[in-house]
Amino acid sequence: MPATSVIGLQWGDEAKGKIVDLLTEDHDIVVRYQGGNNAGHTVQFGGQTYKLSLLPAGILRPGVESVVTGGVVINPRAFLEELDGIVGLNGGVDRNLLISNRAHVVFPWHMAEEAVLEKGRGGDAIGTTMRGIGTCYRDKAGRTHAIRMGDLVRGESFRDRVETVVGHKNRVLQALDPESEPLDAEAIYSEYSQYAERLAPFVTDTTSHLHKALAAGRRVLFEGAQGSLLDLDHGTFPFVTSSNSSGAGIHSGSGVPERAIERMIGVVKAYTTRVGGGPFPTELDNEIGQHIRDEGNEYGTVTGRPRRCGWFDAVATGYGARLSGVDCLAVMLLDVLGKLEEVQVCEAYEIDGERTTDFPAQLEDLARATPVLRSMPGWQADLTGIRKLEDLPVEARDYLDVVAELVGFPVDIVSVGPDREQTILVDRS
Ligand code: IMP
Repeated sequence: MPATSVIGLQWGDEAKGKIVDLLTEDHDIVVRYQGGNNAGHTVQFGGQTYKLSLLPAGILRPGVESVVTGGVVINPRAFLEELDGIVGLNGGVDRNLLISNRAHVVFPWHMAEEAVLEKGRGGDAIGTTMRGIGTCYRDKAGRTHAIRMGDLVRGESFRDRVETVVGHKNRVLQALDPESEPLDAEAIYSEYSQYAERLAPFVTDTTSHLHKALAAGRRVLFEGAQGSLLDLDHGTFPFVTSSNSSGAGIHSGSGVPERAIERMIGVVKAYTTRVGGGPFPTELDNEIGQHIRDEGNEYGTVTGRPRRCGWFDAVATGYGARLSGVDCLAVMLLDVLGKLEEVQVCEAYEIDGERTTDFPAQLEDLARATPVLRSMPGWQADLTGIRKLEDLPVEARDYLDVVAELVGFPVDIVSVGPDREQTILVDRS
């Protein structure tokens, strides 16, 4: 079956947007299946830079259908703002956009609850994006106070539903933080009714739509948000996001079985970054880390926070790759390391004197892990104009070979700059 997927194998921000944009050309449908507007994809198109959070990157391509499935949590205000920012592109996006009636809706109470919960964690704060994503997924799992896109656009009992939920949420918020402002059910109802009117034409059963599309041989591209190590079940819990951001989320989030996927591309940075809290064995809290941050412009697309930077971690990335079941790697931002005299790759961890290449499940073990680093000479060259593997300096090629060997998957794509053209496709035949 002709489906492809693009998955981040680290802690997010692997520049998946560029790969999705590149592959969109060969696909009919692009699908977002988990996360919400905590994600941020930057796509350069027609001399303009677009920052997408909820809309699939395919929305920028004429004729390509964009599908947001039931595993995504949707903040309708953010969704419409994004849509308004690109109106006129893609020959009128309304003909090409579908939103699942199963997707859960993010409401103001989700942001209010998250603010109280994060504050309550003090120094152990997860460092979330404060977009109400985790609290919306929590209501989905709790089932009692959840509202889906289908409920929002049907309208019939929506007003009663909002009143009931707001009554409950106000009691909870007051108990957690007596100074919190009570939410106004009527104001929320009337604001969200307007969103419902605008979104209704797009809302449908995307699961059966995708089943039919695949059966008809249409080419589908699944666009992962965040990265495998932020996966709720398999990542560095509790410093994770609240959805299955590894390949595990494709089936649950879209209703399309994983066997439908023919090619799974694991996207990695040539180094490692992380935003928010949680252990990070190869973190460079020094001038090299700052150098990488400056050269790679490592500041969050959504929150603007400086990203923590460190050496490439083959233990963590190998785990992410196996978890997601990738076929190959796309190594991004290789050019960013171009000024360093020496580069390092973490090939194992040492935990309490024991060497291991297993990625620990317990946070305390990961926090105690010391990286075993392999040092290599840097290439000290500008790679941004290079388009062929054989034209890369030998040190850069050696670096890619070490990444492939240690992670355990071949490198099919190398990115040396943000533009579509700044890409090296590796011919393995
Ligand atoms: P949440 O997804 O807002 O609940 O945040 C949980 C954790 O995931 C925090 O450490 C965030 O910084 C991180 N996170 C969420 N979305 C992204 C992303 O798109 N890129 C990188 N980190 C993210």
